[in-house]
Amino acid sequence: MKMSSWFSKITGQSLTLDNLENVLKLQLRDLYSAEDQLISALPKMAAAAHSRDLKSAFETHLRETRQHKTRLEQAFRMLGCEPKSESCDAMEGLVEEGQEIIDMDGDPEVKDAALIAAAQRVEHYEIAGYGCARTFARRVGRNDVANLLQETLDEEGNADKILTDIAETWVNAQAARA
Ligand SMILES: [Fe+2]
Repeated sequence: MKMSSWFSKITGQSLTLDNLENVLKLQLRDLYSAEDQLISALPKMAAAAHSRDLKSAFETHLRETRQHKTRLEQAFRMLGCEPKSESCDAMEGLVEEGQEIIDMDGDPEVKDAALIAAAQRVEHYEIAGYGCARTFARRVGRNDVANLLQETLDEEGNADKILTDIAETWVNAQAARA
């Protein structure tokens, strides 16, 4: 029987949900796995993108994503623990959905519209994760960690906005003509 990811994280890493700092650490482990999975997925998304703008947005976000992983490692160390990755099942599902689109045949602009939709789901997942982690960090008095997470949160928000701009200004209009 498959254990829930939260349960396996708690049992596997002997963290219990009896204080907010542990919840913060669990969030960071989940995000660490998510970023790691994205570092593998984004080059495939970039290769599959037809629009030059979309390709370059994915490539830029890949560079940012590597930095996000480094910042998480920094955050773990600031909290006095080793960076740990626990398989993030949610991100695995989102990446799989992206891969399904990559593998599908179709009109290039329509496919770009679908790739953007998949990528924005990923961004919103990360925005939720970083937003909660940032708030937990503040709540336990770790503004240093909170500020670091906020930097990443801002970049995730910006990446999401760029995807919206590309979709609204070009891709969706082209896709609608297909
Ligand atoms: Fe990220």
